[in-house]
Amino acid sequence: VTNLVERKVFSATDVAIRRAANCLFAGELIGLPTETVYGLAARGDDAKAVERIFTAKKRPRSNPLILHTATASDAFGLFSEECSSNFQEQADRLSKFWPGPLTLIGPRSGAVLDHVTAGGDTVAVRVPDHPVALAVLRELSRIADCVVPVAAPSANRANYVSPTTAHHVAAGLGEHVAMILDGGPSRVGLESTIVLLKGDASPPRVLRSGAISPAQLSEAIGQPVEGVPPHPTDAPPVAAPGQFAKHYSPRTPLCLVKAGSPSAETSSGGGRVLRIVFGPVDERLSPNHGEIWSFNPDGKLESAAAELYAMLRRADALEFEQIQVDCCAEDGLGMAIMDRLRRASHR
Ligand code: TXA
Ligand code: MG
Repeated sequence: VTNLVERKVFSATDVAIRRAANCLFAGELIGLPTETVYGLAARGDDAKAVERIFTAKKRPRSNPLILHTATASDAFGLFSEECSSNFQEQADRLSKFWPGPLTLIGPRSGAVLDHVTAGGDTVAVRVPDHPVALAVLRELSRIADCVVPVAAPSANRANYVSPTTAHHVAAGLGEHVAMILDGGPSRVGLESTIVLLKGDASPPRVLRSGAISPAQLSEAIGQPVEGVPPHPTDAPPVAAPGQFAKHYSPRTPLCLVKAGSPSAETSSGGGRVLRIVFGPVDERLSPNHGEIWSFNPDGKLESAAAELYAMLRRADALEFEQIQVDCCAEDGLGMAIMDRLRRASHR
C-alpha cells in the first residue's frame, strides 16, 4: 500500500499541474499544497465531488469547508450580493493579506452549495499563497471556462495532525486521492487564521488563530477585533463547527509542561518519554538522558510553526509512551502554536 500511494505523489511540473486541474474538473480528489497546510481538494461547485471529501476524511457533514480561489474578486463573488457596505469595506481591507494565510467568513451567495456550508448561511473563503495552488486554481477555471472555487479542508483524517508535506497526505489519505502534487513543505505550517465578518457594527471575530495575528487584522481595518478565547472548551456554542477542543492530536498522549522544567526519562507508567522544546536543546533538562528534540533550534517561532506538525507525526511514529512539550510565550504566532498544542493535548 505504501508504494502504491507514494506513486500518486508528483512533483509540481506544468504537466502535473494540468493533470491535477483535470482530475478536479472530473470530480476527483487531489492533494494540494498550500502555504499553510496541504489541502484535500475537490471542485467546490460539484456536490458529488464535495461529498467525497467528507467520506475520505470521515468528517462530520455538519462541519463546513473553506472555498479557495485564485483572486480576491473571485472570492468576493462567493459572498451574498446583498452584503452591507460595512461588510464590503472590512472584507476589502482584509483582502490585503491575500494571497495568504487568512480565511474570511461572510454571508453566502445563493450559488454556493449547501454541502460546502453544511447548510449554514455563511461561507468561508481564502486565496492561498502558494504558486502551485494558484496555478491549479487558474487552470481549473480555464478548463471549465468559468470561476470554479475549490473546497479544501486540511488533508488529514478528521482530528489527526494536519499535513505539511505531500508524504503526510499520502500516508493518511493516499487511497482516496487521484494524485498529490508535491509543492514542498508548507511554509507557514499552521492552518489559516479564520475571521468571521458579521457585517453589522459589531467587530470581526477571530474563530481560529493562525499566522495573521489579531493585531495585524485590527490594524488593517482600523478597529478592534475579537480574539479567540485562549483555552479550548467544547462548551456550546462552538462558533467554528470544526474547532473542537480535541483536535490536531497525535495518537501518543501529549502533555504540556513549563519551559525549563526538568524532564523525566520515563513516565509514571515506566515507558519512554520524548521532550520537545523551543529554541536550542538544553541537555540539562534531561539528567537521565531521556530524548529531547527542538521545534526550532534557531529560536524563531516561524520555524517552530513550520516544523510543528511534521515533528508531532515523527514523534508519533516512534511510539513513545508520552510526548512532553514545552509551552511557548503566547503572543503573535505563539498564540496559534499554543492553541494547536492545547488541542493536541486534550484527552
Ligand atoms: O489553512 C487552511 O485554512 C487549510 C488550507 C488547506 O486552506 N484549510 C483548513 O480547512 O484548515 P479545515 O476544513 O481543516 O478547517 C476549516 C475550519 C473548520 O474548523 C470549519 O468548521 C471552519 O473552518 N469553517 C468553514 N466554513 C465555516 C463557516 N461557514 N462558518 C464557520 N466556520 C467555518
Ligand atoms: Mg483541518
